[in-house]
Amino acid sequence: MKTITLINGDGIGPEISDAVVKIIDAAGLKINWDVQTAGADVIGAEGTPLPDRVVDSIKRNKVALKAPVTTPIGKGFRSVNVQLRKTLDLYANLRPCKNLPNIETKFNDVDIVVVRENTEDLYAGIERQIDSDTAESIKLITRCASERIAKFAFEYAVKNNRKEVCVVTKANIMKLSDGLFLDSYRKVAENYPQIHNREILVDNLCMQLVQNPSQFDVLVLPNLYGDIVSDLCAGLIGGLGVAQGANIGVDYAVFEPVHGSAPDIKGKNIANPTALLLSAVEMLKYIGENKYAENIESALFKTLQLGVKTPDLGGNATTEEFTNSIIKHL
Ligand code: NAI
Repeated sequence: MKTITLINGDGIGPEISDAVVKIIDAAGLKINWDVQTAGADVIGAEGTPLPDRVVDSIKRNKVALKAPVTTPIGKGFRSVNVQLRKTLDLYANLRPCKNLPNIETKFNDVDIVVVRENTEDLYAGIERQIDSDTAESIKLITRCASERIAKFAFEYAVKNNRKEVCVVTKANIMKLSDGLFLDSYRKVAENYPQIHNREILVDNLCMQLVQNPSQFDVLVLPNLYGDIVSDLCAGLIGGLGVAQGANIGVDYAVFEPVHGSAPDIKGKNIANPTALLLSAVEMLKYIGENKYAENIESALFKTLQLGVKTPDLGGNATTEEFTNSIIKHL
């Protein structure tokens, strides 16, 4: 039996992880879940929001499924999510955004893959208070990380039959940092003549995405733009409740949805487990359990087609009813 780390998170995390574990179990795939808690709830007992046992578990098992963990805004501890990505060198954040059945959105031909650099940029956490009225954050960009993520995006495009990789920067203003990201992309692109390459500034990209998203295929972005643009792309396909993701490195992979811990709907039995479930489906494919992945995905699609939807998608099903419907259609 395969052992996989499960970080069940906080906020809506435990509700949606319970749903996903139930669905995978009902599909007949036996997984030994190595459950690890993290975040604000463990600080009291363990002195840190990310105890070594969590990282050790992922190192042991190589693969993890992760529900969201809350990060305090403007003060408090550093993001567990960002720390985990840096510690395990999960350098690629892969966020496919494709229309789902029976979810009405403005455009019905969205099929974009966001490839976000996951380890540096303004998320390197290098900040200082210069005086009480002045603060500074460093935007760290290296050639090594930029070439590595560009290569990941092109390799993904080749393996998945995609036509174009578009690099997104603001290199007209940040000529050195974003300029380096762009230059690294251009060098890597030379090795992939079969893939169309394209360059766009992030502000123009946002405008184009809300007017004509179907023109985009694979996007590769530095960390901050990638974070923001992937929420925008989630909005194009029905919102955060359905947007899946994965953090991938050389040795480890952590599958998690784009969304956060949604404290506004915590404990109300209305959270949509689809984003975590689709992340889990990708995880099953990653570990070679394609048959189970396909069965679960088609049960999810049948449920949506029947109009069983949680409130974020305009329906009135509870998390539990939605989960049971998927299980019924396995
Ligand atoms: P959020 O993604 O948690 O919520 C934004 C909006 O989307 C809320 O109205 C929420 O109810 C809704 N939403 C999100 N997921 C949903 C789901 N599965 N079903 C139905 N509705 C859903 O973003 P927010 O409020 O900015 O962040 C809350 C906390 O989550 C913060 O502490 C943030 O740092 C953390 N966060 C954690 C992430 C992670 O663990 N990877 C990623 C993003 C944010």
